[in-house]
Amino acid sequence: MKVKEILDKAYNEHHLTKDEIKFLLNSEGEEKELLFEYADRVRKEYVGDDVYLRGLIEFSSYCKNDCFYCGLRRSNKEAQRYRMQEDEIVEVAKRAYDMGYRTVVLQSGEDPYYTKDKVCSIIKKIKEEVDVAITLSIGERSYEEYKAFREAGADRYLMRFETSNRELYQKYHPGMSFENRIECLRWIKSLGYELGTGFLIGLPGQTIDDLANDILLVYELDSDMIGIGPFIPHPHTPLKDAEAGSVDLTLKCISILRLLMPDSNIPATTALGTLDPLGRQKGLKCGANIVMPNVNDLKYKLKYELYPGKICINEDATKCRGCIESIIISLGRKVGQGFGQSRHYELKK
Ligand code: 5AD
Ligand code: FES
Repeated sequence: MKVKEILDKAYNEHHLTKDEIKFLLNSEGEEKELLFEYADRVRKEYVGDDVYLRGLIEFSSYCKNDCFYCGLRRSNKEAQRYRMQEDEIVEVAKRAYDMGYRTVVLQSGEDPYYTKDKVCSIIKKIKEEVDVAITLSIGERSYEEYKAFREAGADRYLMRFETSNRELYQKYHPGMSFENRIECLRWIKSLGYELGTGFLIGLPGQTIDDLANDILLVYELDSDMIGIGPFIPHPHTPLKDAEAGSVDLTLKCISILRLLMPDSNIPATTALGTLDPLGRQKGLKCGANIVMPNVNDLKYKLKYELYPGKICINEDATKCRGCIESIIISLGRKVGQGFGQSRHYELKK
C-alpha cells in the first residue's frame, strides 16, 4: 500500500515531497485512518500525553483590515466593537493565572489604538503580576514594535499567513501584501519569539495543491506552533454564501503537519470544535496537543465574532476550563503543567 510507504518515510525522515503530501491529503477510508494513527503515535512519542491550555484574551474587536472571511473586518457595520483597557486586561490575565493557566494569549483585530507603548505596558504589567508566558496575536506591526514587545517580555507570537496562494491572498486581503506578512513572520522569528503560524482550510477557490504548499510553507518557516482551522462563512462578510471548510481535510492537515514537525505545538482549534461538536477531540486524536479556551467575560466573548456559532460563547471561563479538562481526561490524556513551551523551540536554543 503506497500510503504505508509514505507514512513510514514521514515517520522516519519528517520530510515529504509535495506529491506525497497531496497523496495524503486525498486519502480516504482506511488510508486516512492510518494517517491519523501515525500522527497520534508521533504526537505521543514526541510531545507526550500532556495537553497544554492557553487562556485566550480577545482584548479588542476593532480591526483596520477588511479580510473577506472575517467578521471583525472594518466594513462589517453590524459588528459590535469593544476595547478593553489596560487594567482590565491585566485583571483577566490574573484571573486566568488563578484558574491555572500558565500562558495567556493576547489577541485582537489589527487595532492601532494599542500603540507600541500601550502594548509594552500591558505586557510588563502582566509579567509583574503573574508568572505566565505571553503570546501576542495582534497582526502586522513594524520591526521596531516587534522588538519592543519582545524586550518588554512577550514570549511568543501567533500570526497565520492564512493562504500561501498569492492570488487568493490578494483577493481576500484587500490593501495587504503576502510579502509583508511573510517578512513580519521572519522578523518575529529572528527576534527570538516562539513563532506560531498557519492557514485557513477551505477558503473558496483553494485547491489541494494550495494546501500542500501551505503545509510546506509552515515547514519552511520552521514554526514552533501551528494554528490551522476550517474556514466558516460569516453572514456579514462577502464570503457569506461560501461553503465552510471540511473538518476531515483539517484533520488531515493536522496529521501531516504533526508527522513533518513532530515536536511543534499544534492546537485543536475552536473553529474545528464549532463545525463539529467532537472536532477538538478529533484534532487531539490526530496530532494536536494544545487547546486555547477563551478566558474573557461573557460580555466580550459574544462580541468577538470572527465567525458565527463559536462554541463556549455562553459559558463562563471557569466552566469552560472544567469542560475542557474533562474532555482531555476522557481521551486518556492530561492537562500539562507549566508553560508548555514548544519543544521544537526548546531544542533549538
Ligand atoms: N472562519 C474561520 N477562521 C477565521 N478566522 C478569521 N475569520 C475566520 C472565519 N470566518 C481566523 C483567521 C485568523 C484567526 C485569528 O481567525 O485565520 O488568523
Ligand atoms: Fe467551553 Fe465546553 S469547552 S464549555
